[in-house]
Amino acid sequence: MEFEELKSILKRMYREYVKFHIKTIIFCLFLSVLVAGSTSATAWLLDPAVKKIFVEKDQTLAWLIPIAIVIAFATKGLSLYFARLNILKVGNIIAGEVQKKVAKCILFSDIQTLESRHSGKYISNFLYDTGQIHTMVSTAVLNIMKDSLSVIFLVGLMFYQNWKLAIFAMVMIPLSAGLAKNLGKKMGKATTQASEITGELVSSLSDIFKSYKMIRIYQKEKIEQDKSDKVIEHLINKNIRLGGLIIRAAPIMETLTGIMIAGFIFYSGKLINLGELEVNNFFSFLAAMMLAYQPIRSLATINMTIYQGAAASKRIFTVIDKPIQIKNNENLPSLKIDKCNIEFKNVDFKYDNTNEKAVKNINMKIEGGKVSALVGQSGAGKSTIINLIPRFYDIQNGNIIIDNQDTKKIKLNSLRKHMALVSQDIVLFDGTIKDNIAYANPSASQKDVENACEFAAADEFIKKLPNKYESFVGENGVKLSGGQKQRISIARAIIRNSPIILLDEATSSLDTESERIVQNAINNLIKDRTTIVIAHRLSTIHEADKIFVFKNGNIINSGNHKYLMDNCEEYKSLYRKQLQ
Ligand SMILES: Nc1ncnc2c1ncn2[C@@H]1O[C@H](COP(=O)(O)OP(=O)(O)OP(=O)(O)O)[C@@H](O)[C@H]1O
Ligand SMILES: [Mg+2]
Repeated sequence: MEFEELKSILKRMYREYVKFHIKTIIFCLFLSVLVAGSTSATAWLLDPAVKKIFVEKDQTLAWLIPIAIVIAFATKGLSLYFARLNILKVGNIIAGEVQKKVAKCILFSDIQTLESRHSGKYISNFLYDTGQIHTMVSTAVLNIMKDSLSVIFLVGLMFYQNWKLAIFAMVMIPLSAGLAKNLGKKMGKATTQASEITGELVSSLSDIFKSYKMIRIYQKEKIEQDKSDKVIEHLINKNIRLGGLIIRAAPIMETLTGIMIAGFIFYSGKLINLGELEVNNFFSFLAAMMLAYQPIRSLATINMTIYQGAAASKRIFTVIDKPIQIKNNENLPSLKIDKCNIEFKNVDFKYDNTNEKAVKNINMKIEGGKVSALVGQSGAGKSTIINLIPRFYDIQNGNIIIDNQDTKKIKLNSLRKHMALVSQDIVLFDGTIKDNIAYANPSASQKDVENACEFAAADEFIKKLPNKYESFVGENGVKLSGGQKQRISIARAIIRNSPIILLDEATSSLDTESERIVQNAINNLIKDRTTIVIAHRLSTIHEADKIFVFKNGNIINSGNHKYLMDNCEEYKSLYRKQLQ
């Protein structure tokens, strides 16, 4: 990372986060002055201690100076404690704020943006990177204040005791600063790599959790283990390298200090012989120099923490700065539902990461209050069409119009408010059955939930569960069967009570008997509502008012079942395959 970039990242961190805690930081600065003052006071006290107590044998000072030393150390300890406590709060609050921003970004960002990155990468941003930011704003900020002040005070004392010796000691400091700058850059780079590998590790772990059955049946345990071992080893190496870089400063600093002290003793011997240095000044100076060692070392390594934190901030900024294309615009009018006709006009849509359009030149009139079905081979673009209606993705060309209102020119909230969706991949969260159903309509009562379940033919199996509606479904509903999950997601759509209903393979996992029951429920549900269904089982869509036949992203024909049987080869062949 170049210095200019580092500067702009730090400026932004300050502007957006640190600024709001400036009072606490100023308070910490005050405490840092106390730390630095009391530290140098302990070194200074050695001067009168040696001179008055040991040389001049002063009785009063013999007990006053020890008391002063206790006070100095206690002041140092207490100020350090309060400074750390305050800065710790600031660090945690800022890291938490960054986390909130990332969480918000995940919740509001475009679906395409989310799909373009593995969720593990987001989790790594969330945990690893914010941790680095926390260290930067807490440790680094406090250490800069307290250590540089301590160094200034102690060096001041050294000059006070003997300026010639002090100049001699000063020569060493630039040496260590140069060393640290170099290390800092390397650290920033290594942290970026470590963060990326952490992202990979979290991704691979979450994949393992998602595909645990597949792994076992195809006996890929060993391969998956090797894969994750490899990532972990990669991470171990990176962390060893990172840790190595951090402690690499130590031996060099120690040796430098050794050289410094040796030279110092040699030189002060000379000065004492020449009568330019008293013993009391010597001890006080030595103490100041020794005490300055720790803060100098900490300052020498602080830029590593800053580089690491800045690199983490940069990764987070990239995520949260990604502009959101599909978002609610309060200035637009709300969708007004009348007949609830939906029309696709010359619609083209291509996913970001593909070359071919998923659907092309779609012209489709979906009549309000009726059932329309989409049929076609797998990959023909049916689910894509359903996903375009609530604007999960934005079309490149054409318009999608509901009751003469372009869906791009109305409030997004008002658009989605009128829809219920049963998607092809059912999603349940790890809560109770009731929570999962009421999710679509928080004001629903227990009675509403039960009614919806009755409609969706789900009440029977729910009543048999030990905790009935309060039973937990497990992560993504692992404790339920495929058909049960499907019925719950249908109940969820029912309770939404919306004028537009989108059903993507809503009954595919049900046996014929349940499907018949659910089909009845759906028939109840879709009365006077605009329903779009996708089903492979043509029995489900037999009775649809209008059927659109898709092939390779195009609509090749439409009409009711009878018309299509007479006029559409594709439909006929789909239908025949079903019957076999
Ligand atoms: N999120 C996505 N990113 C990129 N391409 C996608 C995405 N989802 C679908 N596609 C592609 O778009 C095309 C249409 O997919 P779609 O899911 O609409 O098919 P479908 O008709 O619903 O098929 P099925 O009956 O199997 O569910 C396919 O070629 C698919 O590869
Ligand atoms: Mg599909």
